[in-house]
Amino acid sequence: MSNEFIIFGSPQIKQPEIDDVVDSLKSGWIGTGSKVAKFEKLFAGYKNTTNTIGVNSCTAALHLSLLTLNLKPEDEVITTSMTFCSTVNSIIHTGAKPILVDIDPKTMNINPYSIERKITNKTKCILLVHFAGRSCDMDAIMKIVKKYNLYLIEDCAHAIETTYHGKNAGTFGDFGCFSFYVTKNLVTGEGGMVITNHKEKASQIKKLALHGLSQDAWKRFSDEGYQHYSVEAAGFKYNMMDIQAAIGIHQLERIEKNWLRRQEIWNYYNDNFSELPIELPSPIEKNTRHAYHLYTILIDESKSVLTRDDFLNRMNDNKIGTGVHYLSVPEHPYYQKHFSWKAEDYPHAMKIGRQTVSLPLSPKLTDNDVERVIKTVKKVLD
Ligand SMILES: Cc1ncc(COP(=O)(O)O)c(C=O)c1O
Repeated sequence: MSNEFIIFGSPQIKQPEIDDVVDSLKSGWIGTGSKVAKFEKLFAGYKNTTNTIGVNSCTAALHLSLLTLNLKPEDEVITTSMTFCSTVNSIIHTGAKPILVDIDPKTMNINPYSIERKITNKTKCILLVHFAGRSCDMDAIMKIVKKYNLYLIEDCAHAIETTYHGKNAGTFGDFGCFSFYVTKNLVTGEGGMVITNHKEKASQIKKLALHGLSQDAWKRFSDEGYQHYSVEAAGFKYNMMDIQAAIGIHQLERIEKNWLRRQEIWNYYNDNFSELPIELPSPIEKNTRHAYHLYTILIDESKSVLTRDDFLNRMNDNKIGTGVHYLSVPEHPYYQKHFSWKAEDYPHAMKIGRQTVSLPLSPKLTDNDVERVIKTVKKVLD
């Protein structure tokens, strides 16, 4: 049995994407080009949506989506206290005000009832996260969105394969934003995608992602002859490259097969951990599809023999990489300083942030790797 370090979230890279990247390198067209267009089209087909814009991260996708809403400094965007900093930072970068909401302790998703309590006449948008790949309660959230006439952005960094009552995550609101970062269910190194049904906002995003240049400026050095461009907005350098798309195209081909492997590992962990003094992910809600992005356990030191951080260290000593997703947003000093947020005001997110551990969950794991994770978790908790 191999005893090499199991790197948390190590991506599965196979020959087709290696060949396609080499093809891009040999062709010399390594920037934004026809492979990005192909990947966008394939992703649109996968998500059953109309407009897709490839960008260089989910952070860029979130930022650009929010920018199309023309938010003013007094406008408020409600988001979750249990997410990666980028969700909140993307709001801050628009100049609008982020408003945090606590989570449901079972689903770890934003709590719709708490959302409604935070709505004011300045609220313009809800930015939710389908945490770990589990869909938010979309019936309750869509009711709020309609009642208060709000924009809705879905941070789908964890939720490529997620569905709710048969509908794809990312297609409920105005924008769905995806991440293809190295640890995600589909990787392109760095990368992201916006999906939207707003045709005009889609072209605005496309333009803003490439300096604000007129559409198709990326073609300016193609064999169609030099294309003049004009600058139509003060945009950003957020475009996806063909090298990234060359990886993504083949990752997308395997996404469903890999999802089955993730599900298999998830269920196997559940079966093997059921007797341990730890909290396991809550059962998956009926008529939803979990993306199985993160398998999170909670280490409560009053029930286990050790603290969460001791657990992380002991796993590492035993050559198993783990993750923490995440320390709650208001635990971080920047937000405390600038928004006076206190972790105690978001008690469920605070508790989970202090107890959570993500175990390796990747289609790259062999059966032996999975057995080693299970054996080590049991040993460390013994
Ligand atoms: C919930 C969430 N939102 C946004 C992001 C940002 O994604 P990216 O690294 O592609 O910008 C991440 C990345 O980890 C994430 O987990």
